[in-house]
Amino acid sequence: MAYGLLKGKRGIISGALDENSIAWKVALKAKEEGATFTLTNAPIAMRMGAINELAKVCDAQIIPADATSVEDIEKLYTQSMDVLGGKVDFVLHSIGMSANIRKGKEYGDLNYDWYLKSLDVSSLSLHKFLQVAEKMDAINEWGSVVALSYIAAQRTYPFYTDMAEAKAMLESIARSFGYRYGKAKNVRVNTISQSPTKTTAGSGIGGFDAFYEFAEKMSPLGNATADDCANYTISLFSDLTRMVTMQNLFHDGGYSSTGISEELVQMIQNQNKA
Ligand SMILES: NC(=O)c1ccc[n+]([C@@H]2O[C@H](COP(=O)([O-])OP(=O)(O)OC[C@H]3O[C@@H](n4cnc5c(N)ncnc54)[C@H](O)[C@@H]3O)[C@@H](O)[C@H]2O)c1
Repeated sequence: MAYGLLKGKRGIISGALDENSIAWKVALKAKEEGATFTLTNAPIAMRMGAINELAKVCDAQIIPADATSVEDIEKLYTQSMDVLGGKVDFVLHSIGMSANIRKGKEYGDLNYDWYLKSLDVSSLSLHKFLQVAEKMDAINEWGSVVALSYIAAQRTYPFYTDMAEAKAMLESIARSFGYRYGKAKNVRVNTISQSPTKTTAGSGIGGFDAFYEFAEKMSPLGNATADDCANYTISLFSDLTRMVTMQNLFHDGGYSSTGISEELVQMIQNQNKA
């Protein structure tokens, strides 16, 4: 059901790679809620071609941009404002990548060039999105910027390796820039800390299926899906959450506040009996 929450709003949505991507679902919901927006992804991701289908459905233009390149981001804002007919009201940062994870490097054997790349792509890129926007004055007053995070920023998940630091940095940038941009233009900056979700980035992490299932059993509401995450993101882009900023918002079915669940106790008891 649509509520017209983003009627008249313009935005930029990054990170839609295929139909499993969280950003893909956000784009569909943003369209449903009345927004107009541009889609962006790394030039290399364009080769997969799926984003063209999304662009068609959403009536959105695609503007390729490598999130590590300030020049690309400048073009992204300039072209978006051109195409959309004015400054933007919302920006989704849905970008993450670790070559260390992709290549199965464990935490005690990280490749430091790749480590730096993880931070550049997954965290610094949020700072670049915000710094460029502020300098260009590309976001309207009371605009909203949302980036996606994971609870490994606060707690250790051995397989998440360098992405744990990347997410901690991402959340810190959201707070620091949220303060600055809030003072300057009432622009809000938040991160959503999402449940494990079956996407290309998610499933690439070693042991993903096990910790997906673990989180499902730990959370009183179960894991939040990508669709649920899209709904929450839309609420943060809307005027209903105007005073929410500099927050890391857990969107995880209650996982982050649960010590242990009855299901897990039962599982261990059964295992001990067997
Ligand atoms: N899937 C999960 O379990 C989960 C949980 C919590 C948070 N997140 C976060 O959600 C966000 C979106 O990931 P997803 O799960 O939808 O997976 P996804 O693989 O669909 O999306 C990741 C996106 O990042 C893009 N990207 C990578 N390098 C880039 C670059 N240099 N420039 C621009 N774009 C680049 C990819 O092309 C891709 O579209 C990520 O920040 C991820 O860490 C995912």
